[in-house]
Amino acid sequence: MSGGTEPAKSARIQGEAAISAEGLHKAFGKIKALDGIDLTVPPGTVMALLGPNGAGKTTFVRILTTLLAPDVGRAQVMGYDVVGNSAAVRTIIGLAGQYPAVDENLTGRENLEMVGRLYHLGSSEARRRASELLESFGLTDAAQRRVKTYSGGMRRRLDLGASLVARPPVLFLDEPTSGLDPRSRLGLWEIIENLVKQGTTVFLTTQYLEEADRLADNIAVLDNGRIIEQGTAQYLKECCGGDVLIQLRVADRTQTALAAELLGTLGGDGKVRSTPETGEVSIPVVGGPSMLAEVVRRLDAGGVALSDLALRQPTLDDVFLSLTGRTTETSTGATAQDLERHRGKRKGKEAVT
Ligand SMILES: Nc1ncnc2c1ncn2[C@@H]1O[C@H](COP(=O)(O)OP(=O)(O)OP(=O)(O)O)[C@@H](O)[C@H]1O
Ligand SMILES: [Mg+2]
Repeated sequence: MSGGTEPAKSARIQGEAAISAEGLHKAFGKIKALDGIDLTVPPGTVMALLGPNGAGKTTFVRILTTLLAPDVGRAQVMGYDVVGNSAAVRTIIGLAGQYPAVDENLTGRENLEMVGRLYHLGSSEARRRASELLESFGLTDAAQRRVKTYSGGMRRRLDLGASLVARPPVLFLDEPTSGLDPRSRLGLWEIIENLVKQGTTVFLTTQYLEEADRLADNIAVLDNGRIIEQGTAQYLKECCGGDVLIQLRVADRTQTALAAELLGTLGGDGKVRSTPETGEVSIPVVGGPSMLAEVVRRLDAGGVALSDLALRQPTLDDVFLSLTGRTTETSTGATAQDLERHRGKRKGKEAVT
């Protein structure tokens, strides 16, 4: 619990925004991919854009990274307009797209050196930078292998490395850890956290709530092309995550109803829920941990023994569910066309430099 203090709606903005968007609209035929987006990202912070499939995340990233022009509205990165001054924007951003855009037929080292040369680094500087990135992404041993032979996680790390060649102050990551195993995901999170410590501003999209919770200073929830809520993880949990619940299980299932009765008045306006088949009882509470002691006292006095007792805080999953009506696991809004398009993108390798 926050001890009664109001959660901050947003991390404080210091100085000029690193990224700002105003009234962005983008349609593909009849599909309104972005339907009026306003967003500000303070420098040196992490913004996570959270949304189900088809919400418009990639479209937003493509506009901010100059790959796509908005129909209406404007956006700036470090004060440069993404349409009017796209060349300047490209020199200060890095992008790791939703699907790694590394060249399969080159080795890891060759990929990074090629990007270095695209950024006009001299050949020895490009070599030095490639070695440095291969080292920090744990790819030194695989440096001379063609990317074809890399695992998904290795490709992602290489792609992220490629986006960092020019040491961009603003980094865009479109679902950076999708499809990675938990250990690789953790490794990437640490890399991202280190970049942020060094002052990089990060804009990432994700469907993993844990990722947003861990990395982001601010989270914007995008659904159907609109930002439906935004703020810190704490703010979102408190505004939109629902109640804190005390959940317990009685040792003797025949006492489920008795337990619910003994605890009935604790729930305030909320309802006590009980499931006699499993012996579970849950009570929405205000006051959190202090109520746990009261639960134990009452049940003890009533002669009810417990096998399990826990306080369940709302999670970002609850927030996401209550805002979008979907859980991330079941949010398969992707159509056949989406899948086709994604396959096409993977083949066509979106330009990232
Ligand atoms: N080039 C395009 N042509 C036609 N429709 C598009 C195109 N790009 C995106 N769309 C549509 O715009 C909407 C938003 O797509 P977008 O790729 O931005 O979503 P997303 O949030 O990134 O989804 P995902 O989680 O699946 O990556 C979808 O309905 C998609 O089908
Ligand atoms: Mg996407």
